[in-house]
Amino acid sequence: MKFVFKSFGCQMNKLDTALVTSALTEAGFDLTENVKEANVVLINTCSVRRHAEQRVLSHLGHLKHIKRARPDLVVAVIGCMAQRLGDKLLEHEAVNIVCGPAQIPQIPGLLTGAIEQKKKKLAITGKIRRPTPNAQADALERFESAADSSDKQIPGQAFVRVMRGCDKFCTYCIVPYVRGPEVSRPPEAIISQIKNLANEGIKQVTLLGQAVNSYEYKTGEKTYSLADLLAMVSNVEGIEWVKFVTNYPAEKFLDDILQVMADSPKVCPYLHIPVQSGSDKILRAMNRRYTASEYLGLLDRARDIVPDIAIAGDFIVGFPGETKEDFQATVELLHKAKYRNCFIFKYSPRPGTTADKRLEDNIPADVKQRRNVELLAEQEKISDELSRSFLDKEVTVLVEGPSKKPHLDSADNAGNPQLIGRTATDYIVVFNGPTLLAGDFAKVKITKTSPLTLFGQLI
Ligand code: SAH
Ligand code: SF4
Ligand code: F3S
Repeated sequence: MKFVFKSFGCQMNKLDTALVTSALTEAGFDLTENVKEANVVLINTCSVRRHAEQRVLSHLGHLKHIKRARPDLVVAVIGCMAQRLGDKLLEHEAVNIVCGPAQIPQIPGLLTGAIEQKKKKLAITGKIRRPTPNAQADALERFESAADSSDKQIPGQAFVRVMRGCDKFCTYCIVPYVRGPEVSRPPEAIISQIKNLANEGIKQVTLLGQAVNSYEYKTGEKTYSLADLLAMVSNVEGIEWVKFVTNYPAEKFLDDILQVMADSPKVCPYLHIPVQSGSDKILRAMNRRYTASEYLGLLDRARDIVPDIAIAGDFIVGFPGETKEDFQATVELLHKAKYRNCFIFKYSPRPGTTADKRLEDNIPADVKQRRNVELLAEQEKISDELSRSFLDKEVTVLVEGPSKKPHLDSADNAGNPQLIGRTATDYIVVFNGPTLLAGDFAKVKITKTSPLTLFGQLI
């Protein structure tokens, strides 16, 4: 039996894809890139913006036609959109299985069932905000610990979930309604998983949580924080770099985390800490529990404690009621924050969220678009300046593999393919080198820069 896997969404989803791929391989299925030879198509989905869901629906439209010619093809939709739409998605002509993020341990069984019985199958959580039942939590924990979470595309790297769910309830956000309540995983399970990964040659782990700095695990007397966990992960032999995303801009724990970053050379000096808006009025309406000046205060402290830190952020433009002045406040914040890079999104109302229920989506599409473009252009100038400071400097990268599109002049090529690597501060670096470097560290001298990418020569 062969399966194709198509993934949309965030790193949490990529991790689920890696886990399910390894469980299916264990169960005797073979991964293929080619739909023509596949018996099963899995689609891991995202609900964070309408556009993300539309991409999945158009893909399903395409599969519908394939299935008319090949009715035996089994299509499984998993992930956040599966949880959000449930049986509505199951009604789609192309879909055989709908499986939520909490039900992924059932996937091998669901697929075998669907191949044999030709019945549609639904596996999602009924009341998503209820505390996770113990049996379900245990099943997820067993699945997570047993399966290999290393990135199949990028050698040497793996994501490791430290928390599930989210309890922050930002008013625009669907995640709490599709990923359920916040649960921190036991530190010993996380560490033993990371030891196994290190034994397989993994050098970089990225710890994942929706608000990862909220990580908190109590056992008996001791309460473990993310700072404790980072220190423990840094002690795992073979692990050289530790990253963690995404941080919620709260006072809680952040100083301790920054201190571990300053003290341990293995904890990468990179902090992704989305602000979303620079206007206090909008931040309140978003239920983000800080003001713009408190946020900037956090960044100042971060730079005091870890001078070489690179900071990244996210913004939403066009949130309901965002005036010109509110947007101006966002532009000002972006200038002061001096992000190494940031992600900018146009507000997209998500059904069932507080913002969607209470606030009208009243910023016209063209205004959202203009604000998006303006903010991007401002950030590009800042990123460009920061990138330039790397000219003629040496950087260490973890090599990911051959670059998908050519970047450098072929004259520089010296018979070697173009490789892509990333620095500890998450800069993409393009250089020529032998493919066998993938998964290893390399030193590169930077000869050319662009806002988001550095170019250079292998030393
Ligand atoms: N838990 C992470 C990631 C959440 S989703 C965090 O809190 O940072 C990633 C980003 O998508 C968010 O930071 C936000 O900028 C954006 N986003 C979330 N919901 C959105 C919506 N309804 N419309 C537009 N952007 C959204
Ligand atoms: Fe969504 Fe806010 Fe939770 Fe991030 S912290 S996942 S934006 S609710
Ligand atoms: Fe991630 Fe999208 Fe779900 S951002 S948590 S895949 S809604």
